[in-house]
Amino acid sequence: MEITKICCIGAGYVGGPTMAVIAQKCPHIQVTVVDLNEQRIKDWNDPNTDNIPIYEPGLSEIVAEARGRNLFFSTEVEKAIDEAQVIFISVNTPTKTYGKGKGMAADLKYIELCARQIAKVAKQNKIVVEKSTLPVRTAEAIKSILDNTGNGVQFQILSNPEFLAEGTAVTDLLNPDRILIGGDTTPEGEAAIKALVDVYANWVSKDKILTTNVWSSELSKLTANAFLAQRISSINAMSELCEKTGADVNEVARAIGMDSRIGPKFLKASVGFGGSCFQKDILNLVYIAKTYGLNEVADYWEQVIIMNDHQKRRFSNKIVQTLYNTVADKKIAFLGWAFKKDTNDTRESAAIYVADDLINEQAKISVYDPKVSRTKMLSDLDYLETRSAEENAKALIIFDNAYEACKGSHAVAVLTEWDEFTTYDWQKIYDSMHKPAFVFDGRNILNAKELQSIGFIYNGIGS
Ligand code: NAD
Ligand code: UGA
Repeated sequence: MEITKICCIGAGYVGGPTMAVIAQKCPHIQVTVVDLNEQRIKDWNDPNTDNIPIYEPGLSEIVAEARGRNLFFSTEVEKAIDEAQVIFISVNTPTKTYGKGKGMAADLKYIELCARQIAKVAKQNKIVVEKSTLPVRTAEAIKSILDNTGNGVQFQILSNPEFLAEGTAVTDLLNPDRILIGGDTTPEGEAAIKALVDVYANWVSKDKILTTNVWSSELSKLTANAFLAQRISSINAMSELCEKTGADVNEVARAIGMDSRIGPKFLKASVGFGGSCFQKDILNLVYIAKTYGLNEVADYWEQVIIMNDHQKRRFSNKIVQTLYNTVADKKIAFLGWAFKKDTNDTRESAAIYVADDLINEQAKISVYDPKVSRTKMLSDLDYLETRSAEENAKALIIFDNAYEACKGSHAVAVLTEWDEFTTYDWQKIYDSMHKPAFVFDGRNILNAKELQSIGFIYNGIGS
């Protein structure tokens, strides 16, 4: 079957960029991205593509090229489902906040709603693609809903997890390490796999397109995120030991990374990993292991999260201790709020938790982030429900200029590794601060020697 019409349910960080790239690379395929969130769709359709709701380097140019040609953003979910041969489900799968599995299991209510809507609308056979990250064996539940419509429509369910990282979404999509497609081993399943392979083969070489059974594909996504997060917790654990022993974690990372079996990537010690997925996916993995009674497996992976929480808390404790055990009424300037550079996404960002801890100690926080809005920062803090929105708004003051944010502060804390922070006039920042002036570099991006020669008391991670 040649695919000419694709629909994607969910116009978020994955659905938006992924479909934009498919549309750019496959001008012969009409791609419609739908979402229930009217404002989000309105923003994707903003005439000025610099205003699209997701900031990713290179994305607005791709949207400008394909939108209106073969890329469409719409709230007409049912129409798009009806017309498409392939439907990607790319909705959010957050950690459950209620009921059984609260705080651990993935909440699959949005996925189920999509399956029910597809079942209701579809009049012709369709391929349904799980793009969202899902617990292993979710395809079974989707299949059960789709196979019981009684209208004779045949569905094939494929798992096609997404491995892009935010901030590099476009380059990851254009040049992926691999594309993973899991499907049934029946002739119909194999035909569906082939149809999706052919879509990706428009720009990805066939040797990078891996096909597996559905369960391997679903579980590989959780496994990949668990391994990646585990590397960060491992190096962060070493960072604490380095601080006690005089070793330098950057040197240790370099030394071990040169072992080709370990490799140099993803060994950057930090204030702790954030992002919408690592924590949620590991908690989900832990929950799955527990439901099968695999307690040692569950405990092993849970430690990655425990270590990460410890690393975030350790950072705020260090600020308090270094500032003579009190930050009450002191101004601490945060450089960065996003969970990593080159994104406006703040989900689970370490900055939120560090700010919350310091506000508990009655500090005043001033923040500058090049891409995150004031409303977003305040709503991130309000979401924790530690104190009232009014109190948060008094404690967190947001600036659109880094020098203003740092002026009159007792300490500057780097929470996100934005490149621009390394290019600042640090003498000017020093001159505007209370003395002694402290820097807490939660990303190890600043030049410690240079800052010390200006007069700063510099604290990095793991040295
Ligand atoms: P997101 O919250 O940015 O986007 C999800 C969108 O789905 C929202 O706009 C929401 O309004 C919409 N939605 C929910 N239910 C809907 C429904 N029934 N009909 C129409 N629209 C609906 O989430 P995201 O970051 O794009 O993540 C989506 C999935 O992809 C998750 O499972 C996540 O784990 C996975 N993932 C995310 C990333 C990432 O970098 N963010 C990377 C790989 C995989
Ligand atoms: C991660 C994975 O890298 C993607 O492959 C995956 O598709 C995605 O999760 C997902 O499933 O959502 P993402 O969270 O966007 O991507 O970004 P990463 O580059 O993985 O960074 C995650 C966090 O780890 C950030 O807070 C980052 O600053 C931190 N990090 C990363 C470190 O502290 N040290 C490192 O060496 C690398």
